[in-house]
Amino acid sequence: MQTKILLPEAQMPSHWYNVVADMPTPPDPYLGPDGRPVPPEAMAAIFPMSLIEQEVSAERWIAIPEEVREVLRLWRPSPLFRAHRLEAALDTPAKIYYKNEAVSPAGSHKPNTAVAQAWFNKQAGIKRLTTETGAGQWGCSLALAGQMFGLEVRVYMVKVSYEQKPYRRSLMQTWGAEVFPSPTDMTGAGRKILAAHPDSPGSLGIAISEAVEEAAGRQDTNYALGSVLNHVLLHQTIIGEEAKKQLALVGDYPDMVFAPCGGGSNFGGIAFPFFADKAAGKQVRLVAVEPSSCPTLTKGVYAYDWGDAVGLTPLMHMYTLGHDFMPPGIHAGGLRYHGDSALVSKLYNDGLIEAMAVPQLETFEAGVLFARSEGILPAPESCHAIAATVREAKQCARTGEPKTLLFNLSGHGHFDMTSYDRYLSGELEDFEYPEAAIRESLQHLPKVG
Ligand SMILES: Cc1ncc(COP(=O)(O)O)c(C=O)c1O
Repeated sequence: MQTKILLPEAQMPSHWYNVVADMPTPPDPYLGPDGRPVPPEAMAAIFPMSLIEQEVSAERWIAIPEEVREVLRLWRPSPLFRAHRLEAALDTPAKIYYKNEAVSPAGSHKPNTAVAQAWFNKQAGIKRLTTETGAGQWGCSLALAGQMFGLEVRVYMVKVSYEQKPYRRSLMQTWGAEVFPSPTDMTGAGRKILAAHPDSPGSLGIAISEAVEEAAGRQDTNYALGSVLNHVLLHQTIIGEEAKKQLALVGDYPDMVFAPCGGGSNFGGIAFPFFADKAAGKQVRLVAVEPSSCPTLTKGVYAYDWGDAVGLTPLMHMYTLGHDFMPPGIHAGGLRYHGDSALVSKLYNDGLIEAMAVPQLETFEAGVLFARSEGILPAPESCHAIAATVREAKQCARTGEPKTLLFNLSGHGHFDMTSYDRYLSGELEDFEYPEAAIRESLQHLPKVG
């Protein structure tokens, strides 16, 4: 009975997979404030040309530079697990597999793109990177990657997470990064928010505004984003490519693939390589799982909106709850984002992938079941995919269907113990679906065309 399915280092993928090559229609362009497509060069104030080329590429395969592969080999290929003990706990005929991205030094999938972004910026002569972080996973990942290639890193950390997770801050600082609770009074965007809401708990949208503003104002500084953009999802496809090879080693293939969905990067990472098979006619269901309290795909609208809170980014055609939607302070900080990747949004709108929303308490219940059966304590974000998988496995128990289920364990929850404490002591609550707040913020969508 095999539990860990391991790939030798020599079989780590040499190329990233670009889903655009297999989409029935190309993604819509990013638009400027005048409603016209943004020329790629316009993004050069904050990104190196190499990443901008990846952002707009339609090539199916893009080579992973050897210097990036060398760093990725510190933890990759990541193991694929067969969750025998979870299956037994659920008494299900379903086969459950999970890809364990928690084995990276930062504890999640985020370093897969952080390392690539840091390297391409270094190649372009950049000395400093700014970024935002919600859960702290992305900030840690960029701090680690900056350290690997000798770049300075400044992180604007969403204030509510900064307070909930002091040790994420320490980890970023250990890897040499500067960290500030956002909104700060160091940027125009931060000051604007603080003037209107002095007690603002912050949001990813606000922190993005701060980091972009600083990068746009300095020649030696670029901005790095941990999710949402096409090149970020591209770098994460190494997850799904490895998973396919690992499943092939045991002669299996998933009926359904689940991943938590914030900006869409770990979902795209695990799901897109399977989408390539789906586009070629294979049956596989790809399911993005989001919190009921920040239900971007399931309750948002498909519209052009800004990626940040104050409108510094280009307009992206995506599912959005409105750029000034302030999600409740849920514990899965990495899923508190008003929008979603344009690629994920388009595939969802075209009916090629699925989405579901799960309430907070159900996610922690699933996370604790997973910790008690498989031993690994999952990140609250990852608990969303576990909850969805558990629902499906229970359904299989009722119908007797032996489905093969795969989910992405996007990270561990070792820095999320405050949230687990609150769940275990019965203090954690489900947030109502914030219908009035969503309706209000959707009124502020930009007018396009
Ligand atoms: C562990 C973990 N999983 C999932 C996510 C969600 O982000 P994305 O949808 O971009 O993968 C995050 C974001 O911070 C995260 O830290």
